[in-house]
Amino acid sequence: MTGYTDVSMYGATPMALPLLLGGVVFWVYLVYRWALPRPIAGIPYNKDAGNSILGDVPAMVSHVSRTKQIFTWLAAQNVKLNSPVVQVFCRPLGKPWVVITDFRESQDILMRRTKEFDRSDFFIDIFSGLLPDHHIWLKTNDTFKAHRRLLQDLMTPAFLHQVAAPHVYSAAMDLVKLWEEKLRLTKEHPFSAAVDIYHAALDSVWGFTFGTESGVSTTKAQLQLVSSLQALDLPADVSKPANVPSGPNPPAFDAVLTLTESLEVTVRSPLPRLHHWFLRQLPYMRRAKACKDNMIADELAKAESRLTHGAAADQGVRCALDDVLRREFLAAQKEGRPPMYNTRTIYDELFGFILGGHETTSTTITWALKLLADSQEVQKKLRSTLRAALGTPAVGNRNPCIQEITNTQIPYLDAVIEEIARCSLTASGNARCAMTDAEILGHRIPKGTDVFLMGNGPSIFSAPFEIDEELRSEGGRAAKGRIGSWDPEDMGLFNPERWLTSDEGGKEIFDATAGPHLTFGLGPRGCFGRRLAYLQLRLILVLIVWNFQLQKVPDELGGYDAVDKVTHQPQQCYVRLEKAE
Ligand code: HEM
Ligand SMILES: *[C@@H]1O[C@H](CO)[C@@H](O)[C@H](O)[C@H]1NC(C)=O
Repeated sequence: MTGYTDVSMYGATPMALPLLLGGVVFWVYLVYRWALPRPIAGIPYNKDAGNSILGDVPAMVSHVSRTKQIFTWLAAQNVKLNSPVVQVFCRPLGKPWVVITDFRESQDILMRRTKEFDRSDFFIDIFSGLLPDHHIWLKTNDTFKAHRRLLQDLMTPAFLHQVAAPHVYSAAMDLVKLWEEKLRLTKEHPFSAAVDIYHAALDSVWGFTFGTESGVSTTKAQLQLVSSLQALDLPADVSKPANVPSGPNPPAFDAVLTLTESLEVTVRSPLPRLHHWFLRQLPYMRRAKACKDNMIADELAKAESRLTHGAAADQGVRCALDDVLRREFLAAQKEGRPPMYNTRTIYDELFGFILGGHETTSTTITWALKLLADSQEVQKKLRSTLRAALGTPAVGNRNPCIQEITNTQIPYLDAVIEEIARCSLTASGNARCAMTDAEILGHRIPKGTDVFLMGNGPSIFSAPFEIDEELRSEGGRAAKGRIGSWDPEDMGLFNPERWLTSDEGGKEIFDATAGPHLTFGLGPRGCFGRRLAYLQLRLILVLIVWNFQLQKVPDELGGYDAVDKVTHQPQQCYVRLEKAE
């Protein structure tokens, strides 16, 4: 026997070649078998996908590139396989994902089975590259809790109303002024509104995260540009959109947008972490990250000096950053250590606050514009309800102020906002990871499996699957009837009335438990910013509807797949405005 390098030995004996080939084929076969999806026993799946190394990836990628949505594809598999529990293979060499399309079971998992189900690996895939030290993708442990302590005041009524609301209001008023100018210029033509919404939301979040000293307002800059124009070159056909010029954004703004957009890759890619890693090596991403970090460093230095001069008193808090530093100062004092302000954790929590605070909200608002333009009845009723409830500004022919908007009870407004959130599907699925072997609806779910709990499809937008009560967990059985249910006939429609009922005295009230909706997730790991989101939606929507009538836009501009529901990128969103009466 000679060494391994003596290749000729194989050529020498006639038996060796077939043996070698046989060996290679055998090994290839073994690797192939090993690389095939390994289905969880008993849970339905697409048979073709089970026989392919790529699993469901080609089907999912094709759907996502057509519709820009991953969550609608997931729920569609439940429909296709006719089961509230299915599994899909979207991570080559990885574990199957289990998809649950049943509100009551999802609610039970999110709210009550929190020991068994925690933050998903899917969230690690999406967020850990961009936000390596943000709590959104951490499992619920002491590190998570320490992060949350830094943010603990940011959803209090005091912060929301005294610090956040004025910024949101002023950005929304800038948007109204910008649109007045655009209305003057575009006349009856539709124009693209997505970027305006996106910028106004980012302006407001920027304001309450860093305070007014940061001095960034893209909307004001656009307003200045647009007001200086005398007239536009409009297309002859009024159904054709007008092209309104726009100026450049502040660099830090663009950096945030660039970084946010990189999440698109992680959501859609079958190899998200690797994919995002490659992206981060590219010069434009490196520049964006450096720009964002420098901007945070500058703001942090200013806030630190405010903190040391204004002590740790409450009244010193002008923005989220001030409050986070104050929390770190207090935590350090309690633990007898020096405070640490310049940490990755604080950078990432702040950036995450900006990201969470603007992109989902602006996507939801672009959806609101579409839904309201397409439902003129709802829009008219909303406007007349607002005029009646906010009589003083209506009679005075002025805009309602913050207090009038936030302190007046207007059940129909609550209902419209809730219905917009339900129908917009800005985030139409939640995910959890099984921390132990678990059981869902009679199926064994192995430890480490990601379980997707769908906020679209059956039980949310169409009749639920029939499920034997015996198969549900005890908590799930007990929760029957605690949340209302929708009429299968109309549950797919945009209908705010579904959220209204009356109290004993016959007075109309808003009922948040009228029926299923999972837009913000649920339970201890549900959306942290939900109250802030409602505040933003309320202020911005009221001011838009108070000032403008949203007319229907031509079909080719008003498609519902125009806003990317997964990555929340505004693809396009056209409005055609008229001054409100
Ligand atoms: C319409 C607007 C919004 C929608 C539809 C939305 C939706 C969601 C959803 C579905 C989740 C995951 C929930 C779960 O897994 O159960 C989530 C988590 C989160 N959201 Fe929102 N969100 C919105 C606005 C905001 C805002 C304004 C902020 C403010 C900073 C924010 C911050 C967060 C954070 C920090 C988490 C992670 C919570 C955790 O890991 O425990 N969101 N959001
Ligand atoms: C908490 O979980 C994360 C992963 O989700 C881990 O990186 C971190 O070290 C954990 N912290 C503690 C205190 O166990």
